Amino acid sequence: MVQFRLPKNSTMSEGKTFRAAPDAKNVKRFRVYRWSPDDGKNPTIDTYEVDLDKCGPMVLDALIKIKSEQDASLTFRRSCREGICGSCSMNMNGKNGLACTTAIEDLKGEIRITPLPSMDVIKDLVPDFTHFYAQYASIRPWLQTVSTTPSGKERLQWQEQREKHDGRYECIL
Ligand code: FES
Repeated sequence: MVQFRLPKNSTMSEGKTFRAAPDAKNVKRFRVYRWSPDDGKNPTIDTYEVDLDKCGPMVLDALIKIKSEQDASLTFRRSCREGICGSCSMNMNGKNGLACTTAIEDLKGEIRITPLPSMDVIKDLVPDFTHFYAQYASIRPWLQTVSTTPSGKERLQWQEQREKHDGRYECIL
């Protein structure tokens, strides 16, 4: 299995534990990779106990709950919350996936969350996409033309020209 990259010259150790409320009955433990470039410390795995009776069903719901109720410093990306944008990509129990479409109940035992593998990490669960975007730009995956751009005017497209793209550009996915 591909591992995520630790920061240079670092070792990982056990971090803090954030307990659920004493009266919580349905507790799940989330073990989350933590690292910040700002404090010069080694990365840790922090443990968060989440009361599932007061949490939405998805891993992203738990992360949002942790951030708003237990540890505001936890850093991760998310946007659409419905499996469209890919912002919440991370590794959960050894499998890459989207936190917003991964159900907590489908992950047995403690849930270990680490950044995507094979990428440098900016902070906590946020991977660095600089290299990815450079590769993406290098293949120029956008419509290209050989005609000159009309000055100060919109480039017009005829209905028949647009029809050549039908079925390829309608969906953000
Ligand atoms: Fe957009 Fe998860 S938040 S795919």
